[in-house]
Amino acid sequence: MIDQEKIEKLSKTAKELVAPGKGILAADESMNTVGKRFAPINLENNEDNRRAFRHMLLTAPGESEFISGVILFDETIRQNDLSGKSFVSVMQEGGIIPGIKVDQGLADFGDRGEKTTKGLEGLSDRLKEYVSLGARFAKWRSVITISNATSPSLPSEGEELPSDGNILQNAKDLAAYALVCQQEGLVPIVEPEVLLDGNHSLQQAKDASTKILTALFNELNNAGVVLEALLLKTSMVLPGKDFGQKASAEEIAKNTLEVFNATVPHNLAGIIFLSGGQGDVEATENLNAINSQGTQPWPLTFSYARALQDAATKTWAGKPENMDQAQQVFLHRAKMNSLATFGKYTKALEEGFATASGGQASQD
Ligand code: G3H
Repeated sequence: MIDQEKIEKLSKTAKELVAPGKGILAADESMNTVGKRFAPINLENNEDNRRAFRHMLLTAPGESEFISGVILFDETIRQNDLSGKSFVSVMQEGGIIPGIKVDQGLADFGDRGEKTTKGLEGLSDRLKEYVSLGARFAKWRSVITISNATSPSLPSEGEELPSDGNILQNAKDLAAYALVCQQEGLVPIVEPEVLLDGNHSLQQAKDASTKILTALFNELNNAGVVLEALLLKTSMVLPGKDFGQKASAEEIAKNTLEVFNATVPHNLAGIIFLSGGQGDVEATENLNAINSQGTQPWPLTFSYARALQDAATKTWAGKPENMDQAQQVFLHRAKMNSLATFGKYTKALEEGFATASGGQASQD
């Protein structure tokens, strides 16, 4: 049992994170993943360049109008910006809630490419330290693969994925992490990411998402996690990127909401989306379509990494003289997604701004 006062404080933070018109920036790429983001701009992946990259994203003037919180990586929560001020202080003074990625990457599950997530061992002590560094919420990502019985990208043939065993193990781990977070005074974000990789259909994604979220809320309930102080970070229901046929924003919105309405309890504080390899405009259009389907039981907003960052990263290209322009591109994307949370986005608003088409590899 977690004491009532703590839960009330956490529920308040959860509500602030999904306040009307606001979403979360995921700036929590591991060192390895930052290297993948820097490769297209030919930038060396070192501490100073990572500092400059995060400075670009975390000090854009007025970003708190659209961004409620930022998920940081371990290095960034301890790091100073280019002016020597800690990123956490910059955020606190700017009205942005600091969060932290607390999982420690992926481990193999079975021999067909499925994964579980590492990081439960010693979690409680790590969270205590993050709280002392200023974190108020946390993120744990698990990844789920969908595939047909035989798939060229998998090491061996077998049952269709995801397997029931993998769904259950990831749900149990997410619930165990969420409980420790609430005990330690952090709002947990649980993120079961359904990968876009593969040639599965929209219906397969819908079926897998339904199973995953059913198992997850079952395990969260078994563990005694308080849903009013929890955020679900999830994928939109999309066909695999090699399916060969795109779905319309309306189809994606309809199927995504059908899954949520069948599986997500109404007292959950909110649902936030990852972009998952969609292009940035595509991720905004789909969020807009989701928020154009009438009132839902939960706020539905963004927690993008690539779809908020890619165009700004390209504009910045690691050059100090491009910093201001890159921040404008970042703020533009944040504003477009903010409008999408009200269903008020239109593509005409993109005129004059750089956009990115997606396709960058996901986090690890
Ligand atoms: O865990 C994944 C990130 O938080 C979201 O990243 O928007 O690039 O998929 P993405």
